This record gives sequence, structure tokens and C-alpha cells, in this order.
Amino acid sequence: MLGYLFAYNIINRSSQAVPQNKLTPVTPALWSSRFVFIMAAVGSAVGLGNIWKFPYITGENGGGAFVLVYLVCIAIIGLPLMMSEVMLGRRGAKSPIGSMAVVAKAEGRSPHWVGVGIMATLAAFLILSFYSVIAGWTMPYIVSAVSGQFSGISAQSTGALFEDLLASPWQLLMWHSLFMGLTILVSAGGVRHGLENAVTKLMPALFVLLLILVGYAATTGHFGEAVSFLFKPNFSALTAESILVALGHAFFTLSLASGAMMAYGAYLPKNVSIARTAVVVGVMDTCVALLAGLAIFPIVFAHGLAAGEGPGLIFVTLPVAFGQMPGGSFFATLFFVLLLFAAWTSSISMLESLVSYLNEKGISRVTAAIGGGLAAWLVGITTLLSLNVWSDFTPLDMFARFEGKTLFDLYDYLTANIMMPVVALLIALFVGWKVNPEHSKAELGAWHKVWFPVIRYLSPIALLIVFYFNLK
Ligand code: TRP
Repeated sequence: MLGYLFAYNIINRSSQAVPQNKLTPVTPALWSSRFVFIMAAVGSAVGLGNIWKFPYITGENGGGAFVLVYLVCIAIIGLPLMMSEVMLGRRGAKSPIGSMAVVAKAEGRSPHWVGVGIMATLAAFLILSFYSVIAGWTMPYIVSAVSGQFSGISAQSTGALFEDLLASPWQLLMWHSLFMGLTILVSAGGVRHGLENAVTKLMPALFVLLLILVGYAATTGHFGEAVSFLFKPNFSALTAESILVALGHAFFTLSLASGAMMAYGAYLPKNVSIARTAVVVGVMDTCVALLAGLAIFPIVFAHGLAAGEGPGLIFVTLPVAFGQMPGGSFFATLFFVLLLFAAWTSSISMLESLVSYLNEKGISRVTAAIGGGLAAWLVGITTLLSLNVWSDFTPLDMFARFEGKTLFDLYDYLTANIMMPVVALLIALFVGWKVNPEHSKAELGAWHKVWFPVIRYLSPIALLIVFYFNLK
């Protein structure tokens, strides 16, 4: 299978008439094969969203019914949207902002469509700012794992450990800075092909490790309970808001509605099937999230922890499991290292929307990566403070919807529940109604028949229904 994938398309741009100075260090002007694109896209998609966010929001939103809605969102909105974004990116062959401008112009549409690219880039920037703070948490956990601190640890002690971390702004700042530094490093091109290497070797390792964790979780005696929690829908637990959360997460976890997939699509060779590729990426991403759920909830139930614990869920539960399993320190170290890498290959893609745009405007890649990264780092500091010093600062209390939300909560809500769904709706309307179907047919081939009615009618209607019930 792998051989097939490698042989599928060994075209790289050096054999084509493209100026070499356009080569970007992270992502060669074109991905060298479909396999590499899949890996880069999976690297972007698989990250904290799957392993940190999916389990905790599933816990907060009551399990099964939420998971079902999430899967439906992935299938009828996420995948068609991913195809649309990769298609727009490949056709425009520029940054998300640039590609929207190019395609709108080529289709004789209003230049205002570029606003979609701008909002997407802004969303990616905001997400990066807090993503870096959370990704930073993996680092002190690596230190604790290496030093054997988890062995035999109780659920109470892991809770305390996590609270101590959140309570110390300086520690958080150190890890946040380090993580943003790593992101800037790859984005600026310090690690040539680092991305390809990281994703082709580390992603499969993460997958295997998750399987091992699921295997361990199966021995806790609470596996069945976790399976029914995750897969037995209890619709009475479902609210309009949890449907919006599931929808927003479908975008977040697939790196959609934020330019990332458009930016990566711009580097995709012409003869690769966009639709098949998107399906592979979507399926892999979903598998990782479900595996993470299956690894975590048995432990949650076995130790009487709260499923609705919130953002600390994996940091509080997994160390308990590592502390009890044979070779726990080793597995714990490996897990947090791989989680860090998964977050890293995601954060790079978040910065890519902005960096590719600035690059187009004549700013060097290095300057763009450093400037964009530093700006996101600064905004990230407000997230970091909202976890401790500013934890009582809930500036939008006057609106019932935002009551009690800290800055971090607000950034999360604004991006996942507002900006991304809006960008998604606009993209669906653009490719469904404003782009000549002959063009999308040329890009999508036989899949166009299924994709077109979905993106033209089903996705926008589904999005509007979710909006309607949330604004009501
Ligand atoms: N999909 C990644 C995750 O699940 C996060 C991510 C990467 C992302 N790029 C993005 C989220 C762009 C939103 C926008 O962890």
C-alpha cells in the first residue's frame, strides 16, 4: 500500500517550470506525492483537537448523542468543506487570502469574497494564540513523566499537579514561549522538510501508542461503560449549544474554515484526487479522536473522575493510568512527546495562512513567521493569564451567552462557534453558487456528482439550521 502511494505520483516541482526561489522551506512548492500531502494534512488535522479537546467536550456535552452529531457534522459539512478548501487553494495557488481573490476574479465575482480569506486567517491566528498555551502544557508533563513522578500517583495528586501548573503564570509563559518558538522555527524554514519527517514517522507512532492505551483501558473493567458513554446516544443531553459545539469542533479538528487546508492545497499537485485524499484525512482524524476517547473514558470511570472535568481532563486522567501500568514512565514520556509533536505539526499549519499571505506581500518568510508568531504569542499571554491572575475577568457577562467566560473561553467560543461556522457557510455558498460547476468538476472529477449537491444545499442548510437554533 505504501509503495503504491509513493509511486502514485513522484512528481515534484523541480521538474516543472517553476522558479526555485518560490520554494518555501516548510512545504516544497508542491508536495512531492499524494502521500506527503496526506501526511501534512493529517499532521495539521491531528493534534490537541483530537486528544485534548474531543474527549473533554464530549465529557461536558453528555457523550453519545454529542459524538453522533459530531460525526454527522464531519460527514456532511466537514468533508465536503475540506474538498472545497483544498480545491480553492489548488486553483488559486496562493495564500488563503490570495486564492480567494484569484478565484473570485477568475469567476467574475465580487472582490469582497476576499473577506472570507481574511476572516479565515484571523481565526487561525487567534486559535494559534491559545493553542500554543495548551500545547505548552505537554512539556512539563514530559518532564514529570521522565522523572517518574507519575508512578503510583492518585487521581487527587494529578489534579493538584495540574492545578499547580495552571496557577503559575511564569511556568506557563515559559512553555508557551518555547512552543511558539518551535512553531516559528519550522515556519521560518529552520528545519527544512522537518514537517514531512515529523508527520511521516511520528503520526504513525502516535496512532500505535493510542492503540496501546486503549488496550490498557480495556483492562480497567470500565471499558463497556466508556463504550456506551461514547456511542449510546442520549438525546436528552443534547442542547442547541452542544450541537454548535460539535459543529465548531468538526471544523477545528479538521483544520477547516481557517485557511490551513487552503494554504496546504496550494501546494498539491494537479493530478491528485482531492476527494479521495480528503476522505482519507477525515477518516484518520476521526479514528484518532475516537481512540483517544476510548483510552480516556474507561480511566475516568474507573477512578470516579468527572467526565465533565473540562480542559484538564487528559492531564488529570492519563497520568493515573500511566502510574499503574507496567513501563508507565516510558509510555507516559512517549505519549506526551508525541502529543507535543502532533500539536506542533498543527500549529505550523495555523501560522501558514498568515505567513503565506505576508510572503505574497513581499515580506520574507523568516520575517513573516517571526512577526506573526510573536503577535500570536502576545495574544496568547492573555489566555495564559485568564487561567490564573485574570480567572475572574469575564468581560462579556452582560450577554447571557458569554456569562462567566474568561478570555480563553471567549477566544475558543469566538473562533470555533462563530468565526469558523461563518467562514464555512461563506465558502460553501461560494463554491456551491458562485463558482462555475464546470471548474469544480474539473478539480473533483467523478466525486463532483456527490459533492456538488451536498455543498450547494445540504451543508448551507445544515449550517443555517444550527445558527437559527442558537440565535433563537
Ligand atoms: N486540527 C488541529 C487539531 O485538532 C488544530 C488545527 C490545526 C487547527 N490547524 C488549524 C484548528 C487551523 C483550526 C484552524 O488539533
